[in-house]
Amino acid sequence: MAEDGGDIGINTRLAHSGNNPHDYFGFVNPPVVHASTVLYPNAAAMAARSQKYTYGTRGTPTTDALAAAIDALEGSAGTIMVPSGLAAVTVPLLAFLSSGDHLLIVDSIYHPTRNFADTMLKRLGVDVEYYDPHAGAGIASLIKPNTRVVFTESPASNTFEVQDIPAIAKAAHAAGVIVMMDNTWATPLYFRPLDHGVDISIHAATKYPAGHSDVLLGTVSANEACWKQLWETFNTMGCCAGPDDVYQVLRGLRTMGVRLDHHQRSALAIAGWLEGQPGVARVLHPALPSHPDHGLWKRDFCGSSGIFSIVLAGGCQKQQHAFLDALTIFGLGYSWGGYESLAVPVVLGDRTVAKGPYDGPLIRLQIGLEDVGDLKADLARGLAAAAAA
Ligand SMILES: Cc1ncc(COP(=O)(O)O)c(C=O)c1O
Repeated sequence: MAEDGGDIGINTRLAHSGNNPHDYFGFVNPPVVHASTVLYPNAAAMAARSQKYTYGTRGTPTTDALAAAIDALEGSAGTIMVPSGLAAVTVPLLAFLSSGDHLLIVDSIYHPTRNFADTMLKRLGVDVEYYDPHAGAGIASLIKPNTRVVFTESPASNTFEVQDIPAIAKAAHAAGVIVMMDNTWATPLYFRPLDHGVDISIHAATKYPAGHSDVLLGTVSANEACWKQLWETFNTMGCCAGPDDVYQVLRGLRTMGVRLDHHQRSALAIAGWLEGQPGVARVLHPALPSHPDHGLWKRDFCGSSGIFSIVLAGGCQKQQHAFLDALTIFGLGYSWGGYESLAVPVVLGDRTVAKGPYDGPLIRLQIGLEDVGDLKADLARGLAAAAAA
């Protein structure tokens, strides 16, 4: 394993973080340990639990390898792996919230996070409030004596507003409130939440870390202050991830830098081109200078990934569906971060604050690893179909 010092390049870190090949006969990849039972040498060791591995749910050499690799990327004290990105949202919320607590969630949140808050958290007695993605330091005015967590996601799901995370973290910490961030869009390559004051960084590793649309996994990384409580909740809930999925994500990490670089370049080329196309009112991509939050993105992020939205110039669901149905390379599917391009209709019916108005219907695009010319031709087919609808 390479030293995880701060002075090595990101692709070197991705290639060598995690396991030490010489711990396992020099094989460069760690073993995929399928485990429930772990044997102890004697009763005294069993009573004291005095060995590194004690039970399959509590960690194996495979999960340790991925956790170490993610900690190196995030700068975190510890990382848990859970069976999906959604579980990576729900487990830390359950770890830190109790009945009677107040939770602030950004209104432009990933819809299933909202659903979890509106159903289970409310049932458990948590007071859930949604705030404007542009709240920034103004979050201070929403913090109550019982506020326990501010949940952020930046850029926003589907509409890609950028949050002022350092300002939010400063205001939250001044009131003793924990800040969580769903950082799936940027990955720790393009934004390191803990460096910007976030306490708990959440990833759907299903997306770019796995990279091939065949694995579900979530990671949650905590700073020193929050790690113990996160780890204890993880063990209390028993929601560990399967070893094959953990291994696949470690495998995906090795190439994530080069894949993301390609996603980034293709997405920017296509987003810029779309801005000049008739039938497109706006392109919602924070790395475009035309985006209202571009300055914030430029200040805090060091790259952009492959997912953004477009706003059609007028029309309604008929034009939106005509666009989608005309596509032949872009698939219609919800998960993202894989090698293939995808498009989905955006529905903002759940929003209370960040709901527009927009000039026309929204379509979210995930730009995959295909050739840009082919993707542009496909999108031109979509725009022609929307214009004709
Ligand atoms: C921002 C964000 N967070 C979390 C998730 C959940 O990930 P998973 O599909 O692994 O549950 C998604 C999935 O689309 C997402 O877009």
